[in-house]
Amino acid sequence: MRILVIGGGAREHALCRSLSLDPEVTALHCAPGNAGIAEVATLHAVDATDGAAVATLAETPQVNADLVVIGPEAPLVAGVADAVRARGIAAFGPSAQAARLEGSKAFAKEVMAAAGVPTARSHLCTTPQEADEALDAFGPPYVVKDDGLAAGKGVVVTDDIEVARAHAHACERVVIEEFLDGPEVSLFAVTDGETVVPLQPAQDFKRAYDGDEGPNTGGMGAYSPLPWADPKLVQEIEQTVLRPTVDELRRRGTPFSGLLYAGLAITSRGVRVIEFNARFGDPETQAVLARLRTPLAGLLHAAATGRLADLPPLNWSEEAAVTVVVAAHDYPAAPRTGDVIEGLDAVAQQDAPEAYVLHAGTKRDSQGRVVSAGGRVLSVTATGPGLSGARERAYQALGRIRLDGSHHRTDIAARAAE
Ligand code: AMP
Ligand code: GLY
Repeated sequence: MRILVIGGGAREHALCRSLSLDPEVTALHCAPGNAGIAEVATLHAVDATDGAAVATLAETPQVNADLVVIGPEAPLVAGVADAVRARGIAAFGPSAQAARLEGSKAFAKEVMAAAGVPTARSHLCTTPQEADEALDAFGPPYVVKDDGLAAGKGVVVTDDIEVARAHAHACERVVIEEFLDGPEVSLFAVTDGETVVPLQPAQDFKRAYDGDEGPNTGGMGAYSPLPWADPKLVQEIEQTVLRPTVDELRRRGTPFSGLLYAGLAITSRGVRVIEFNARFGDPETQAVLARLRTPLAGLLHAAATGRLADLPPLNWSEEAAVTVVVAAHDYPAAPRTGDVIEGLDAVAQQDAPEAYVLHAGTKRDSQGRVVSAGGRVLSVTATGPGLSGARERAYQALGRIRLDGSHHRTDIAARAAE
């Protein structure tokens, strides 16, 4: 199978790594990719949100893709999967219509209401007056969400009414909702629009600093499995959240195929959806795929071609996985780029295969050195017998890496490992 992966973060490096280990994959291409992905795939430049450009790249004789795997949300919402499928090439990722589940919080709420999926009570507001009334009705802590895609910056959770009002008034359409209390879980499901195959659950760490302090980020680390969770949790979420949502979108004539990501809060009153995403999560994917034994290409291709029902149950490693993000100086505020990264060879020589470095914002400079090129720079990932073993290996590998001014959390999976 010849595969083209779209995207260039650590999530895409994790996808490419797993695909490169799959004997069924005969050629692996990625666009735009990064310095780490370049070691397992042939890179191409492309505007990832330009459907025609992606489809044309997939068709070029050099790539000649049997399957295009779309990593990030922006291309999906822009209809890149539709453009690829229109040329007769299988695409892993939902249509633009179905990707609205992530692209519009209001749409997601409407689908959940129709499907009876448990989520926070909410109001969609389009004027400052409506927003103020909704904030007063719910009380603190206030949860204020920009309706559209905002690259992780659209949600404000605060006790400060002025901060809540300011964010609400700055959005054209804003969802104001009830605060959900309880641990968060990320559960991914692969679906072809009909059959739903949940992966193993993970937890990510959204705040920049230890102890969940500091600003929200794209994610500073993740782990899987969740030893503290009820063993029936996945089954429950499949029945109350994933299947009803997939069924509802199919019923509407806009089936969702690809990766359905449910971000959930486990509240005292039960599981509630915080948000849906229409793609693999970053950094949870790095931890989840580290444990998946089933070859990835066959799974993604079956979803893209409506054959998931024929697939045997997924096979998982008994080991745990932990991923720790190394972020650039001053991430998330104003990340500095262009710093040289050292120690990558040492990890490859001393820690592989149990620990390895997935690249996010990296590239090669004119001298061939790997340098930082984004806010989240690396995802150091490790497996081990239990979370404490995986943690130890991940932090040992991370200790060999030098990136001037970088920071990382030291408490990823620490509580869960105890
Ligand atoms: P999102 O961008 O939708 O993933 O939201 C970012 C983060 O805001 C989530 O991971 C939660 O930690 C928090 N959040 C979102 N909605 C709620 C809610 N209703 N109650 C509590 N926290 C929330
Ligand atoms: N880990 C959060 C996200 O991918 O949106």
